[in-house]
Amino acid sequence: MHTDIAEILFDEAQLECIVNSLAERINKDYSGKTLEIIGILKGSVVFLADLIRKLEIDCTLDFITASSYGAKTVSSGKVRLDANMLPDLKNKHILLVEDILDTGSTLAGIKNIVYGKGAFSAAVCTLFNKPSRRKKPIKAEYVGTDIPDKFVVGYGLDYNDRYRNLPYVGVLKPEIYTGINKIKE
Ligand code: XMP
Ligand code: MG
Repeated sequence: MHTDIAEILFDEAQLECIVNSLAERINKDYSGKTLEIIGILKGSVVFLADLIRKLEIDCTLDFITASSYGAKTVSSGKVRLDANMLPDLKNKHILLVEDILDTGSTLAGIKNIVYGKGAFSAAVCTLFNKPSRRKKPIKAEYVGTDIPDKFVVGYGLDYNDRYRNLPYVGVLKPEIYTGINKIKE
């Protein structure tokens, strides 16, 4: 285990189980339809790469960039969104794929953009959900699992862009972002 990690919450096998059950539901719900998948960069990338390989439906893949954290573990509340890479979404079924649904600000902003581009439907698939921190009335149709209000990294999730490569999801030691061992910003 990485020395900056206090505890592992989900190992590779547990993550695979979560992804499999999400994919099974998506395959069933969108059977016979074309699904436009939109990954929210960068945190969703590892999860998304595993998820789409389990999908048997007809689908396309695009990305939107969102950032609200910077080198912090608490959201600034201000989300920067860059939707320049999105194609025309008129009358399409959209699945927004996110790493963590936290306050809901990111997904609230993205849903506005997607419906503004004429989407027929926009469902949310999130690997993790922190229900205790919600500020916007956003619900995810597909939730991998709820987690407590701890700052987690790995499997695409970062602190200051580090730790995305860890194959498991773990809780970051608080001294990494508060104390003498703080990593360079
Ligand atoms: P909101 O508040 O807009 O935030 O729902 C969602 C985004 O916040 C990030 N986030 C985390 N990132 N570990 C992370 O690495 C966490 O524990 C965590 N909690 C929230 C994440 O980028 C998500 O897209
Ligand atoms: Mg993110």
